Amino acid sequence: MDATTVTLPDLAATHRLAARCASMLRPGDAVLLDGPLGAGKSEFARALLRALAGDPALEVPSPSFTLVQGYALPGGPAGSAAHHLDLYRLAGPDEMAELGWEEAREGIVLVEWPDRLGPLRPADALAITLAPLPADPDARLATLSGWPDRLPALLDAPAASGTSGGTSGGTPGAARSA
Ligand SMILES: Nc1ncnc2c1ncn2[C@@H]1O[C@H](COP(=O)(O)OP(=O)(O)O)[C@@H](O)[C@H]1O
Ligand SMILES: [Mg+2]
Repeated sequence: MDATTVTLPDLAATHRLAARCASMLRPGDAVLLDGPLGAGKSEFARALLRALAGDPALEVPSPSFTLVQGYALPGGPAGSAAHHLDLYRLAGPDEMAELGWEEAREGIVLVEWPDRLGPLRPADALAITLAPLPADPDARLATLSGWPDRLPALLDAPAASGTSGGTSGGTPGAARSA
């Protein structure tokens, strides 16, 4: 699958990418957030949920212990909701039913540690991997894949700039700035 790499020079750039992503989401979408502890997955999720809810002060607690946190989206389509999951402590894919995965998938799901999903990983998801850059503690490299129909618009929005990146597994030769 083609992947595109974007440089996020600071936290504000991560927040902007998350807000652009929020503006393109619709019920049934899944955003998968990969990357090591401290990469910025929760920061991305928090900014995305705040944009989605239209509330910059929305309380977005970390679901690392509850595993799932639900959000009503009163401004969205009837009955629409978003769920933020952190599956780091998931015992196995069987536990997903107890967490209400099926129901959550009717709305928008944001998943940290999506490797825990196993066979439940949505094939049509937007997958974002965040990686720290050793040279700059404020910068992150984001590798985006999936969403063949929407990825170009997500990356070419006015707040982003640069050229198209490499392929998954390749070197990010044409890393972009956002
Ligand atoms: N460009 C950036 N994008 C995201 N987080 C950043 C960035 N630069 C610094 N940070 C910091 O890195 C930390 C990321 O934490 P968090 O989002 O909880 O990580 P994760 O959920 O991946 O474990 C936060 O303290 C945040 O302020
Ligand atoms: Mg986190």
